[in-house]
Amino acid sequence: MRIAVPIETEGNETRVAATPETVKKFIGLGATVTVQSGAGTKAGIPDSEFETAGAKIATSLADTLSGAEIVLGVRRPSADVLAQMPKGAAVIATMDPYGNEAALKSMADAGVDAFAMEFMPRITRAQVMDVLSSQANLAGYRAVIDGAGEYGRALPMMMTAAGTVPAARIFIMGVGVAGLQAIATARRLGAIVTATDVRPATKEQVESLGAKFLAVEDEEFQQAQTAGGYAKEMSKEYQAKQAALTATHIAKQDIVITTALIPGRPAPKLISADMVRSMRPGSVIVDLAVERGGNCELAKPGEVYVTDNGVKIVGHLNVPGRLAATASSLYAKNLFAFVETMIDKEKKTLAINWDDELVKATLLTRDGAIVHPNFQPKA
Ligand code: NAI
Repeated sequence: MRIAVPIETEGNETRVAATPETVKKFIGLGATVTVQSGAGTKAGIPDSEFETAGAKIATSLADTLSGAEIVLGVRRPSADVLAQMPKGAAVIATMDPYGNEAALKSMADAGVDAFAMEFMPRITRAQVMDVLSSQANLAGYRAVIDGAGEYGRALPMMMTAAGTVPAARIFIMGVGVAGLQAIATARRLGAIVTATDVRPATKEQVESLGAKFLAVEDEEFQQAQTAGGYAKEMSKEYQAKQAALTATHIAKQDIVITTALIPGRPAPKLISADMVRSMRPGSVIVDLAVERGGNCELAKPGEVYVTDNGVKIVGHLNVPGRLAATASSLYAKNLFAFVETMIDKEKKTLAINWDDELVKATLLTRDGAIVHPNFQPKA
């Protein structure tokens, strides 16, 4: 059973899909692991560490992929990588399939079994494989660090001989996995934290972390959570009430961190240009939703944009990749946990159970066809 870890080819990807720790575990299950030379460099893992863990280091992509039954990635393989992929290989990565149907078809045409880690069901058994959570948690932490880095003042209150420094006010919009970690991090740094969400369940979570909850708590709010635990898209009326409530609040904040997402929809616009204009010079907005259209009207993907009134809007892409070592270590463990379920431990062979609900939920392509129910032609 051969497992391959090629270099990530997407420009801003710093993470790697395996670590020396997971390589050792795979070898313990009877696999051989080939890592392409340099795959871990941006995550601070030199070839030598992979080698010490037992991996073979291959210098070319072709040698890395040769005979691989499992190919691990952070991102969907590029066309070049796909062209060299052995037919029938299980390719496991975050696939970002929505809106990328052509890439999905290329994977089917290449004859690989493509698994999208982000489709892992959020059930107890699969918690250890939940890449959305492992990476969003780090993004929430990093958003506060990035915000603090851009902010020209201290976060905690300090009483010094030279005078008192007031605590910074930080507002978190969207309290899922990333938002909760952002609250915890901002609190640890001594900020005065408030937070908002449209799901009622978040109120208690926010308060248990020592932050103040702020939201329009009307009837629509009571119904805003889907059975899957996600937010619904709110009505125009609710959005207007929410905007009115947050407008006065935002004007008084030093740092605003936005993390609001709705599955399968563009990110909700929560901060208008007018709201940005109402903020004091030197304040900072960190928009974690920028890759999905942004929560702030003025956020620019991949840029730290400074407005005319001196507000910095941080729109970094791939925020988990800004903590490449930690993000890789958690992501690699998520992958290992999933792959482990596909291995016959007695025979030490790959034995995918096609009826397993985790496989069914994540499998995009098989035997040359797109098989995932979300990507079938509409009847
Ligand atoms: P997400 O990344 O889809 O969205 C982030 C947050 O934005 C959510 O809390 C959402 O309610 C909020 N939001 C959406 N529209 C908004 C608006 N207009 N204004 C303000 N906030 C808005 O969410 P994430 O982080 O994936 O979490 C979703 C749910 O999944 C949560 O209930 C979380 O606790 C749950 N979860 C369950 C897991 C499990 O059972 N294994 C693992 C991880 C998360």
